[in-house]
Amino acid sequence: MAVRVDLNISLDGFATTADQTPENPMGEDWSRLVATYVSTRTFRARVLHDPTGEGTTGVDDRYAEAYFAQVGAEIMGAGMFGFHAHPNDPDWRGWWGDEPPFRVPVFVLTHTPRPSIEMAGGTTFQFLSATPAEALDRALEAAGGLDVRVGGGPTVVREFLKAGLVDQLHIAITPILLGGGIRLWDDLRGLESGYEVTVEAAPSGATHLTFRR
Ligand SMILES: NC(=O)c1ccc[n+]([C@@H]2O[C@H](COP(=O)([O-])OP(=O)(O)OC[C@H]3O[C@@H](n4cnc5c(N)ncnc54)[C@H](OP(=O)(O)O)[C@@H]3O)[C@@H](O)[C@H]2O)c1
Repeated sequence: MAVRVDLNISLDGFATTADQTPENPMGEDWSRLVATYVSTRTFRARVLHDPTGEGTTGVDDRYAEAYFAQVGAEIMGAGMFGFHAHPNDPDWRGWWGDEPPFRVPVFVLTHTPRPSIEMAGGTTFQFLSATPAEALDRALEAAGGLDVRVGGGPTVVREFLKAGLVDQLHIAITPILLGGGIRLWDDLRGLESGYEVTVEAAPSGATHLTFRR
């Protein structure tokens, strides 16, 4: 069992984008940042429920498959769940539709917890205000011996990295410069010590960097 992180970041280290406008609430940079992941056959089937089998195969798809494999519980932040974008919607159920791709218990860290939500396909969102170590204890208990993924966003991932709780950090670096957003690497000097670091370049231009204990 391992505590895993998988994130897409830009060459300048940003895991979020900063070009959202009222007219274009996602902005243009988000689709550029995650393009190689979203194009994979695995993402299309698992997240978009595309039954055609279309999508890229090869290096990026292998990492996308690994993203979903062996995960027994997920932890994410209020931002990734979407509370920050929908602060006044008491019925907000996350970004992922009626049947989210997680299919496991998901623990959402928030300072304003609310009742759990059971979704189709095995995903249950549970909301808690807790330290990273406490949240991880809850997730480990729920994971039944499988891995726990800290899914994001970067604020929560950085909390877990700073607390030394992450066993495997997979970063897909997209060769674009965003110039703004939330940076993954700030204040993490020496993070690499204690990890074995491997790198694999994909034909898409993405570089897959993995820190493994
Ligand atoms: N690049 C990628 O691969 C990737 C992956 C996932 C997500 N994302 C992006 O990341 C963005 C969200 O990231 P983010 O860094 O802004 O936010 P986030 O990490 O999802 O959530 C941070 C928030 O979670 C709550 N929180 C954090 N730690 C807590 C604790 N210990 N106890 C209770 N509450 C706690 C706080 O919200 P409150 O105080 O409001 O409760 C905090 O502001 C989204 O735009 C998403 O698209 C990117």
